[in-house]
Amino acid sequence: MERGVCSLEKKILEIKERVLSELKKAESFDAIQEIRVKFLGKKGELTQVLRQMGTLAPEERPRIGQLANEVRALLTERLEKKLSILREQEKEKKLKSERIDVTLPGRPLRRGHRHPISLVLEEIKDIFTAMGFEIAEGPEVEWDYYNFEALNIPKDHPARDMQDSFYITDEILLRTHTSPVQVRVLEKSVPKVPVRIIAPGKVYRRDDDATHSPMFHQVEGLLVDKRCTLGDLKGVLLAFARQMFGQDRQIRLRPSFFPFTEPSAEVDISCVNCGGKGCRVCSWTGWLEILGAGMVHPRVLETTGYNPEEVVGFAFGMGVERIAMLKYGIPDLRLFFENDIRFLHQF
Ligand code: PHE
Repeated sequence: MERGVCSLEKKILEIKERVLSELKKAESFDAIQEIRVKFLGKKGELTQVLRQMGTLAPEERPRIGQLANEVRALLTERLEKKLSILREQEKEKKLKSERIDVTLPGRPLRRGHRHPISLVLEEIKDIFTAMGFEIAEGPEVEWDYYNFEALNIPKDHPARDMQDSFYITDEILLRTHTSPVQVRVLEKSVPKVPVRIIAPGKVYRRDDDATHSPMFHQVEGLLVDKRCTLGDLKGVLLAFARQMFGQDRQIRLRPSFFPFTEPSAEVDISCVNCGGKGCRVCSWTGWLEILGAGMVHPRVLETTGYNPEEVVGFAFGMGVERIAMLKYGIPDLRLFFENDIRFLHQF
């Protein structure tokens, strides 16, 4: 049995050397796992050798058994050690590749800002609220009654042609102007005076070209009181024009027609470009049209419950896009709605 002992002992020591040398070369988790399986696994070489313990003389078994256990323990420990070294290296690598240089300057955040239409709307509101007007609102989806009928525009009236609209039913449409807010406010206020409001908001028409958009913004103005004249209207609009377009602006009223005002006027400001001498911007007239206005028609007052013998008022309506185009010299209204950052960033 001497030979048996010798060869088993030799085998164990040999396995130990092989494992240690293979372990030295192993550079990956897989390689280490392979070594573990190959030598220490259920069918591994060391395990096979231990199975042969039965062939030993009983007095040899403790010594060889002890040796085998020591070798197994040693190898297991070395394996673990190598694994933890690898893990450590892996972590280092990851830390290095994911390192953040906190001393790098940050990427600047592009700051957003309000749309030019919002800016101009804000300015218009400021000017009129400073003069004592309150802000009123009405729905964009509106009854035919408020949009037309109550404003003295009966069905089949030719004035409806100017404001071709989007209908939802025969009686409901997208409002074509902010004038229906006049009616809603008067209905709610009657019989109280004074009524002094502006009504900003979106309106809709079936138009689409360089100066018309199917959706645009208007600001309505309405003042009703015991006493009020066309001169008051002109004074308010002149004050507005000067604050909006500069203190040297002049305005003029040209006779016009709206079914809900009488008399009615188109209101022009002296050209923002040439000051009135005549240029390309004002088509050599010296004037630029900015809004429609007039004295509230007695029928509108009557319809909403006011007595036209006792109260009187004026109203006006302006297109916000038009005001913004004139103020900033913007040639095409569609620019407002394309949301091109290069355009929007200029304001
Ligand atoms: N609502 C008219 C339009 O959109 C403008 C207007 C308002 C005219 C108030 C007179 C009085 O064309």
